[in-house]
Amino acid sequence: MQTAQPAICAPLPLHARVLLFDLQFSNRQTANLTTALRHLQDLINGKDRAAGLGWPVLSALNARLDGLQPFPQPLSPAFIPATPYALWIWIRGDEAGEIFHQSRQCINRLAPTFRLRAVRELALYAEGRDLTGYRDGTENPSGDAISDTAFLHEGSPGMRGSSFLALQTWQHDWNALDQLNEASRNLIIGRTQRDDHEIAEAPATAHIRRTAQEDFQPEAFLWRRSMPWIHVMDAGLLFQAFAASVTAFAAQIHRMSGQEDGLVDELFRISTPIDGAYFWCPPMHHGALDLRQLAI
Ligand code: HEM
Repeated sequence: MQTAQPAICAPLPLHARVLLFDLQFSNRQTANLTTALRHLQDLINGKDRAAGLGWPVLSALNARLDGLQPFPQPLSPAFIPATPYALWIWIRGDEAGEIFHQSRQCINRLAPTFRLRAVRELALYAEGRDLTGYRDGTENPSGDAISDTAFLHEGSPGMRGSSFLALQTWQHDWNALDQLNEASRNLIIGRTQRDDHEIAEAPATAHIRRTAQEDFQPEAFLWRRSMPWIHVMDAGLLFQAFAASVTAFAAQIHRMSGQEDGLVDELFRISTPIDGAYFWCPPMHHGALDLRQLAI
């Protein structure tokens, strides 16, 4: 879609960083927020730097966006944390050093209104596998279905071409993984690690059984652009899924976390989400983020 941020559909880069910010917004100083958002427009080209705005920014500006809801945070059977970040920036490239310098530029320019809360250092592994070795993204939409899934095709200028991102940082439990043989790991995912074959007899709790996109009413398709993250010796998957609204993700996580039928996705045996938030990714207009929806 012509007006969308191209990074969302582009092939995954070799290296990337996700910067997650809080909003420092005292005494409702809307003018400061407006200025910071103008800086954001200067920083984001949509190609190697993408951005999305979280609930704290949208509510500070009284923006009502159809398609956005509060992030789900069930306590049981599986706990899903909600961490309403204000801003998501995805810097992509071939060189980690260049991405570091670009990160500094973004952080400095957006301070003090946006305060850096977390950084996820991302790198491609084995041509698009999760660090557990499983190919990730096999059942992603392809061709025209990518744009149909990921972007809003209707609405006013300023909304058309935008996308909703569901983000979760999953931390893998390497000790738990070490204790499982290959066959047991395969049954957790529901696919074989070696050749990415679907396992017909995988249990209803296998990850691909819980998330089979056609099995939802309505169907719950996502455009997943997740990447492995590494911090010293902690590591996992930064799950990033784009769609024209957040309803598909909400339905998927509802079923994964066992709220639908009490069956929890086996994935929770080997990995845990440590944060979670939704973001609105505005479209582009004349090469910059289109913030007309926020009267900017
Ligand atoms: C630790 C975190 C996760 C890992 C390692 C992981 C890994 C995988 C793998 C290996 C596959 C099979 C290949 C593929 O189709 O991509 C898959 C499929 C899928 N996953 Fe995940 N996933 C994770 C979290 C999630 C979350 C949080 C959601 C949504 C809430 C999700 C939604 C999906 C969907 C929709 C599919 C395709 C299912 C289908 O239609 O066959 N995943 N995932």
